[in-house]
Amino acid sequence: MLSTLEILRYPDARLHKVAKPVEVVDERIRDLSQAMLATMYDANGIGLAATQVDVHERLIVVDVSEERNEPLVIINPTIVWASEDTQMAEEGCLSVPGVYDGVERASEVHVQHLDAQGQLQTLQATDLLAVCIQHEMDHLVGKVFVEYLSPLKRNRIKTKLQKQLREDR
Ligand code: NI
Repeated sequence: MLSTLEILRYPDARLHKVAKPVEVVDERIRDLSQAMLATMYDANGIGLAATQVDVHERLIVVDVSEERNEPLVIINPTIVWASEDTQMAEEGCLSVPGVYDGVERASEVHVQHLDAQGQLQTLQATDLLAVCIQHEMDHLVGKVFVEYLSPLKRNRIKTKLQKQLREDR
């Protein structure tokens, strides 16, 4: 089994770094994608952004399938179209353990990206996949989902997680 990577936990300042585009899709990027997928599956997540493992390049991995056998490697994603329709869904994040809250996002997005072979792809995402991709793409610009919540809620979450971190040490 592949070894897993350490996931940064909110409020860690490195989660707010803005990722740079991946320049070449090579073995390094493929190895990183595989390690990120292993980390995501190990943590029972449905998505993980490179930012969360302290690599600041535009790469995310996603698997929203029930069987956990439909991994997607999404490199240099751009949303080329988003629906005006929105959906409100409960979100969680591997960097914000134990916290779930509703976030409103576009119901459907079309995402242009490179795959693990460096081929250009367009993905039409709806439902959970649309939510997940928008959530992960936010990580690449340094945004964590709790930033959509009220300052009051966000501060409560910060305090709770800082306390947890101290206890875990
Ligand atoms: Ni997240």
